[in-house]
Amino acid sequence: MKNPIIPLYRQSDILIIRSENCFVFDSDNKRYIDFESGDWASNLGHSNPKINERIKQQVDILIHDGLRFRNSESEQLSLKLLDKLGLTGGQCAFLNSGSEAVNLGITIAKNMTGKKRVLKMDCSYLSAFGHGQISDNNSDLINIPFNNTDSISNIDFHEIAVFVFEPGNASSLIKYPNADFIKAVATEIKKHGGLIMANEVTTGFGRTGKWFGFQHYDYQPDIVSVGKALGNGYPISGVVISSRISELFKETPFRYAQSHQNDALGCAVGLEVISTIEEQDLISKGFEKGTYFKEKLIQLQTKHPDIVEIRARGLMIAIELKTTEIADHIYNQLIGYGFLVGFKEKTLRFIPSLTIELKHIDELIEMIDIIITGLNIQILNQCR
Ligand SMILES: Cc1ncc(COP(=O)(O)O)c(C=O)c1O
Repeated sequence: MKNPIIPLYRQSDILIIRSENCFVFDSDNKRYIDFESGDWASNLGHSNPKINERIKQQVDILIHDGLRFRNSESEQLSLKLLDKLGLTGGQCAFLNSGSEAVNLGITIAKNMTGKKRVLKMDCSYLSAFGHGQISDNNSDLINIPFNNTDSISNIDFHEIAVFVFEPGNASSLIKYPNADFIKAVATEIKKHGGLIMANEVTTGFGRTGKWFGFQHYDYQPDIVSVGKALGNGYPISGVVISSRISELFKETPFRYAQSHQNDALGCAVGLEVISTIEEQDLISKGFEKGTYFKEKLIQLQTKHPDIVEIRARGLMIAIELKTTEIADHIYNQLIGYGFLVGFKEKTLRFIPSLTIELKHIDELIEMIDIIITGLNIQILNQCR
């Protein structure tokens, strides 16, 4: 039968029917350990019982009330998020996807500064549409080469409304910008009246071992976009503005209407996500697991020179293989053995939920070891 879903993105034939913590199960009830947390969203594990319970309670109270009214779930979430971000006195708006949050953040920056261009690192992904979309028609988007401090002098900072800073890049192979590079860009932006938006859609909520990825750097953002893990798989995203930007907004407000905006259900999920992280101490536990994972990979690298680089911060980890073919081979074998990881070019990506157990990390390491060893034996036999 023809797949009734429009093929907008390459899909495998695996039919997922159920999920639980770090596992997803297919239609043959085969279990996969999910080292991608869905689309890097289920930081607290799939179908987390606490989040599910809160959803069940909230649907009987209030799902959606409409743009014109206030609701306490969104206001509580706003205060909680501002506190976690160190942006007390600021304000938030809640939407559904990361792309919407990034776009609204950029719109705010353009309106508040009167400038129209957007600076991003060349490897950053911002949004599926709109101001952040990478397309030939979006001439407002300017790329700065990743970690290339010399290239800063080529940028005309006068015209830049906002630097959208992704503190750890997941779409393009897991790369972490140098603090000095970011400091130099941020200094130029500030000097010329532009704003800095931390794009925490992927790096937020403990992913990199801190609440937010920008907290590894030495600056406070004017705007923050969040998404993915805020809903642990439920679609909720947010734009956060500092108190300074919220004062500017008061002076020059604009209207932004979207049906699903500050919805009570999504915000209740966000509140439960934050309190679960706090109650279960998942930031430091995630950091410890990330450190363990990285050490295991370092040990594996000493055995297998096919692993040429390890990039890791918290539980956002990648290994780079010698060739794309080796990475492709490991990736496909891993799926067969029930491990879901990310794969792009020569890189394999691991972004598991913070609730993953060490034994599952061990299982993955052991399987990669077996696959690379098998591959090398195969190559040896071919040479004979
Ligand atoms: C850093 C970053 N920003 C924005 C987005 C867009 O979020 P969404 O796919 O929820 O629209 C993504 C998606 O992967 C992302 O990784």
